[in-house]
Amino acid sequence: MRSKSPFLLIFFIFPTVLLHAQSDLQTLLKLKSSLIGPSGSGLDDWAASPSPSAHCSFSGVTCDGDARVMSLNVTGVPLLGALPPEIGMLDRLVNLTLAADNLTGPLPIEMSSLSSLKYVNLSWNSLNGTFPAEMVLSFAELEVFDVYNNNFTGNLPLEFVKLKNLRILALGGNYFSGDIPEVYSEFESLTHLKLQGNSLSGRIPAGLARIPNLQELYLGYFNAYEGGIPPEFGSISTLKLLDLASCNLTGEIPASLGNLKHLHTLFLQINHLTGPIPPKMSAMTSLMSLDLSINNLTGEIPESFAELKNLTLISLFQNKFEGPLPGFIGDLPNLEVLQIWNNNFTLGLPENLGRNGRLLLLDVAKNHLTGAIPKDLCRGGRLNKLILMENYFYGPLPQELGECKSLTKIRIRKNFFNGTIPAGFFRLPLLDMLELNDNYFTGELPEQISADKLGSLTLSNNWITGKVPPAIGDLTNLGILSLDMNKFSGEIPPEIFNLKNLSKVNFSGNGFTGEIPASVAGSSHLTFLDLSNNNLRGGIPVSISWLLTLNLLNLSRNQLEGPIPDEIGLMKSLTVLDLSYNDFSGRRPATGLLKDLDDRFFAGNPNLCSPHSSSFCQSDLSPSQTSHKQHSSSNMAAAAVASVTALLLLSAAWFLLRRRRLEKSRVWKLTAFQRLDFRAEEVVECLKEENIIGRGGAGVVYRGSMANGIDVAIKRLTGRANSCNDHGFMAEIQTLGGIRHRNIVRLLGYVSNKDSNLLLYEYMSHGSLGEMLHGSKGAHLQWESRHRIAVEAAKGLCYLHHDCSPSIIHRDVKSNNILLDSDYEAHVADFGLAKFFHDPGASECMSSIAGSYGYIAPEYAYTLRVDQKSDVYSFGVVLLELITGRKPVGEFGEGVDIVRWVFKTTGELSHPSDAAVVLAVVDSRLTGYPLTGVVNLFKIAMMCVEDESSARPTMRQVVHMLTNPPQPSPNLISL
Ligand SMILES: *[C@@H]1O[C@H](CO)[C@@H](O)[C@H](O)[C@H]1NC(C)=O
Ligand SMILES: *[C@@H]1O[C@H](CO)[C@@H](O)[C@H](O)[C@H]1NC(C)=O
Ligand SMILES: *[C@@H]1O[C@H](CO)[C@@H](O)[C@H](O)[C@H]1NC(C)=O
Repeated sequence: MRSKSPFLLIFFIFPTVLLHAQSDLQTLLKLKSSLIGPSGSGLDDWAASPSPSAHCSFSGVTCDGDARVMSLNVTGVPLLGALPPEIGMLDRLVNLTLAADNLTGPLPIEMSSLSSLKYVNLSWNSLNGTFPAEMVLSFAELEVFDVYNNNFTGNLPLEFVKLKNLRILALGGNYFSGDIPEVYSEFESLTHLKLQGNSLSGRIPAGLARIPNLQELYLGYFNAYEGGIPPEFGSISTLKLLDLASCNLTGEIPASLGNLKHLHTLFLQINHLTGPIPPKMSAMTSLMSLDLSINNLTGEIPESFAELKNLTLISLFQNKFEGPLPGFIGDLPNLEVLQIWNNNFTLGLPENLGRNGRLLLLDVAKNHLTGAIPKDLCRGGRLNKLILMENYFYGPLPQELGECKSLTKIRIRKNFFNGTIPAGFFRLPLLDMLELNDNYFTGELPEQISADKLGSLTLSNNWITGKVPPAIGDLTNLGILSLDMNKFSGEIPPEIFNLKNLSKVNFSGNGFTGEIPASVAGSSHLTFLDLSNNNLRGGIPVSISWLLTLNLLNLSRNQLEGPIPDEIGLMKSLTVLDLSYNDFSGRRPATGLLKDLDDRFFAGNPNLCSPHSSSFCQSDLSPSQTSHKQHSSSNMAAAAVASVTALLLLSAAWFLLRRRRLEKSRVWKLTAFQRLDFRAEEVVECLKEENIIGRGGAGVVYRGSMANGIDVAIKRLTGRANSCNDHGFMAEIQTLGGIRHRNIVRLLGYVSNKDSNLLLYEYMSHGSLGEMLHGSKGAHLQWESRHRIAVEAAKGLCYLHHDCSPSIIHRDVKSNNILLDSDYEAHVADFGLAKFFHDPGASECMSSIAGSYGYIAPEYAYTLRVDQKSDVYSFGVVLLELITGRKPVGEFGEGVDIVRWVFKTTGELSHPSDAAVVLAVVDSRLTGYPLTGVVNLFKIAMMCVEDESSARPTMRQVVHMLTNPPQPSPNLISL
């Protein structure tokens, strides 16, 4: 017996453990005490007892006649620790299930004495290390071995092949690397081989086809093989499931696979497969699920596929398929899912599609399909998603779809649909997205609207007429409301702004009349408000400035009038403001954003004066003078001339006075925090348009080249809070000036006069991480640089939080505030400043909201309270940017930021191992990166963006985790 000798070896190495056999009761208590962790919860009924067989009634424990433990099942208890060696004393164990218990560490070698084991399930833990070969050999009786989703490393253990009874081997979701061993072809009883989600490479051994009873084979997901699918796999006559998704396969689909008569599932998605679908695959008559999506496959769907009567799922999206959708697809009796988006399919949808009463999901977006929509798509009342967008469909929508209560998404934008929108759409109880934009829909919206779940309603660019029904204000989940470019008329119903979740409102390009409702501030999460190109009158309600996250405000091309409220310029979140072509009057405020805004955003307001123009402005006149001037007419010419002359004299005198006062206050003074060999005037001279290197809510940044050869960055602060007294500000700046750390941009000094403050910083020649990462140069930042930047920035923040006294909260951590010097070393910039630029009306400078959209911790938005953990959240967002290469907002659809996107993307994975999760989100511009490193960084990022601030690590812990990878920390992401 080949398996005996290693067993004996173990016996001699660990004689004391085996000889001092204690009772299983004591062993279990020992297991408990070393595993339940400091919190001490779990396994509550495992308690000491005088009865020698008390343990047999412990939860999860089954004993044999000798009161020895035969079966142990502890599932879903956070045990948090390594399996202690004592586990080896339970040597009668047959079934061992310790699944989803947060176990860490390697498997103890003492497990070798568990020679009766048949069923082992240690899946969903964080076990690590390599497998000791001799341990595997001692499990001679083993039938099932499942360690799915742990952190094991090294090569796949060869020894499993020796286990004659092994039926199921699940090693997926770990970090096994190297080739799949050729000897794996020698398994005798194996029916299930699951190696997916590792770091395997090399060619897939054709010999696996020799495993006599193989039924399920999972090799995909993050493994990256050379070559393609071995044609020999067509001879595994017992095979029922073949999953080779996402593992770098090339070449064509072997026609031999058609011989797999029992195959019900074929997953080949996300590879580089080329060529056509072999018509011979129509012989796989058991086939139910076929996923070939995201490859480079070409050609048509073979007519012979009409034989595949059992098909329930067809996924062919993101390939280069062409030709018509064969009519038989509409006749498949069990078809539930048809996803063929992003191909070149032509002609129409099969007329019978949906008539089987089973259709759940239809996504044919981005093809060249045309014709009318079949009327039976929802005949079974099960259709969940209807996605027809970006095709050439035409005609009215079948009214039947309005009765399809199961629909959650309707996306049919960019087609040629006409007629009225089925009124039933607005009453569908589960509908969360209704996207009908860019069609030719006519008619009015129904008065009755009750689609309670609706989150996004997009009707842009149609020919819809009539008023907007106030009942839209009852759609409490609505986040996006886009009605732009239609023919709506009447007033904007104020009820709409009762909606607390509304983030984007676009009413542009309609015929709306009346005033902007002052209730607008009720939708306190608005980020986008476009009311341009209508016939709105009245003034800008000051309440708009209460919208603390508003990013874009476009009121251009209306008939709005009156002065522009100063408060608008002080809105920190605003990045786009367009007030052009209205009837605004008075002097343009020079507060905040308004000061640096291009003139074109104010154009077409003949009565609005520039803040820079020296000629007088109507608003400089008293009301009586204004009206006098306006009423002057030819028969009052003399009087007019006289008064104008008087006015000119008056204003000339006023100007002289003003200039003298200005000159006095405009003397610049340089305060240096270290020796600076240049003068204030030199700095001020650099404030020219051509020197601008950045703009932000807090100010404009100029590059200044001093005569002594030193480059500095000059930040001109805007919108300094009036209510903050200068002493507080200056004291704070002094503190910041005293900070010295390698990963913090040094504040060199400041230049100020009565009106302005210019902060002088070290110049960072490679600009900000944000620009670098999200610009065309993003690909140059490869993994090593990104990881280094993460560590350096973390060190900078850690210093601010933990080593400065008083501790400094950054308040605006974002990739644009992490600057790179000439060696690409990261330096944190602009810390502690954010609090100066907000909410000037607030009585206390410190209590106002700061931060940038997409980086703001959830608790911050609600409580306005910041602490270090809010910075940690923002830093987590930066880490996600480094991993995914994506911007925190703007790429994921409205209202979805990077954090939500990551949750959503990873939550949708069917095989969510650590590796698969990372693959789903990692920046595709990265060429080659260590999987463990990315997983580690990803896990840290996910801890940082925990909703609950107390669950986030401190920056000190972040630095520690970043610099000590891979940390076998508890599995904190739910994978
Ligand atoms: C062990 O598990 C298998 C399958 O899960 C079950 O059939 C068997 O009865 C179990 N044996 C014991 C002793 O619990
Ligand atoms: C182990 O226990 C869990 C519940 O705690 C149960 O769902 C699972 O089926 C059990 N497994 C075995 C093999 O008995
Ligand atoms: C244990 O791991 C699970 C995921 O497997 C996770 O959801 C849970 O938070 C972890 N518990 C602890 C206490 O770490």
